Amino acid sequence: MISNERRTILVVDDEMVIREVLEDFLSAEGYEVVAVSSGADALVELEEEHYDAVLSDLMMPQMNGLELMTEINNRGYQLVKVIMTGYGTIETAVQAMKVGADDYILKPFKMEEVLSVLDRGFDRQRLVRENITLRETVNLYRIAETIAHESDSGRILQEIAEASWQETQADFLFLSIFPTPAPKWDPGHQVKVGPLAGTDLQVDELEVGAALARESTLLVQGADGQTFLQGTGAPGPTVSFCAVPLQVPGRMLGLLAAVSFTRRTVFTEGHRKFLHILATKAAAALENTRLVEQLQGANRELLEANHQLQENFVQSILGFARAIEQNDPYTRGHSDRVARYSRIIAEELKFEAQLVEDIFFAGQLHDIGKIGISSQKLNKAGKLNAPEIRMFRRHPEMGKQILEPIPFMRHLISGVYCHHERYDGQGYPQGLAGEEIPLMGRIIAVADTYDAMTSDRSYRKALPMQVALDELGANLGTQFDPMVVQAFLAAVTKGRIHE
Ligand SMILES: [Fe+2]
Repeated sequence: MISNERRTILVVDDEMVIREVLEDFLSAEGYEVVAVSSGADALVELEEEHYDAVLSDLMMPQMNGLELMTEINNRGYQLVKVIMTGYGTIETAVQAMKVGADDYILKPFKMEEVLSVLDRGFDRQRLVRENITLRETVNLYRIAETIAHESDSGRILQEIAEASWQETQADFLFLSIFPTPAPKWDPGHQVKVGPLAGTDLQVDELEVGAALARESTLLVQGADGQTFLQGTGAPGPTVSFCAVPLQVPGRMLGLLAAVSFTRRTVFTEGHRKFLHILATKAAAALENTRLVEQLQGANRELLEANHQLQENFVQSILGFARAIEQNDPYTRGHSDRVARYSRIIAEELKFEAQLVEDIFFAGQLHDIGKIGISSQKLNKAGKLNAPEIRMFRRHPEMGKQILEPIPFMRHLISGVYCHHERYDGQGYPQGLAGEEIPLMGRIIAVADTYDAMTSDRSYRKALPMQVALDELGANLGTQFDPMVVQAFLAAVTKGRIHE
């Protein structure tokens, strides 16, 4: 860490006496001091070494102190800049501050003044380093907002990497998500940004991960950062290395690392904090995304399983319905035909597709209640006696009881329960009339009666189609809903129902 090292100061003055005095005095105070005689030499020195402060004369030949300060700022060096001037007018001081100097000293100066100006400069620099600036905070807020509303994990990583790079100006910005065994979750995703992103440079995830497990975040100045890198892409020794984890409670999802090989790009406490906050937000967003994906996956599987169960169940029920008919040569295929006629009527009435399908399904099941009734008795030649009629008439009620416990079949009950109601109220089991009878019941009643008339029965032969149609017409408004019969006759006219 910079604060633990000996601070280095560059003295720039064309007067040798001043250089020697400052060099001796500041060395004695514990600083490491290098003194040069011109602005040009100072710039060479700054390019080669890291300095914590520059103490420059104002009036020098060729490049004066203000020009030097301007150049230092242009090059982006981060250090304390102090101007020394023998021409102590307030204008010069203001000008010095305008071009980016942190402070100024009036010549002739006392050594204590130099020390206090430097201390003040270092204090301020430390504050800047330790505190995230307003600009960074605004930036951070913006990015956090963006990723909080992003559900694509790849986009979250890209956003974070770009923002981190912009903030740090790192030569190499590396963001990695560790592979996880969770299904459908991106298995190990890396994003690289910065001038060295195209090289084979890598951050040693094991090494950094282990260090982060010990210290929570890493900020390493100087060549020591080298130990965290792999590959041959490094252009020289590291200048600064910073790494933070993408952490959620109990688990490290990945890591974010910034590497600088450029002398003037030294990561600060502010950078470390910035990256840490960003990485924590990213980790939370990624974890949410993962949980949502998991939940959606589990939900999909559950829906599929449920659908499969329903399908199996439906097939079983239909199997029962057909089994009832199979035992009886007179009714074989009856339910399927009733279902087909019912569907045609529903289509003629321009019902929505789903309702049409429901009516078809209800038609297939309309006599499911006959499961418990002996077929010999129902199909005997000659008329049924009174107890037999009572038993037969229970089948709508029994069908209702069979379907009631099945949630996804409940909407079919009205078709099963009410297919023996009559429009004039003379039907059973409830004796409903007109519009009181549910639509499904009114439709199936027409389809059922037509098929019964046009099929052989144990007690009579099938009626010709025209006779059956005349019968429907004759009972329109008494037994049947006129609207339903008209729809049926329309379908016959169109050739949709034929012999
Ligand atoms: Fe029936």
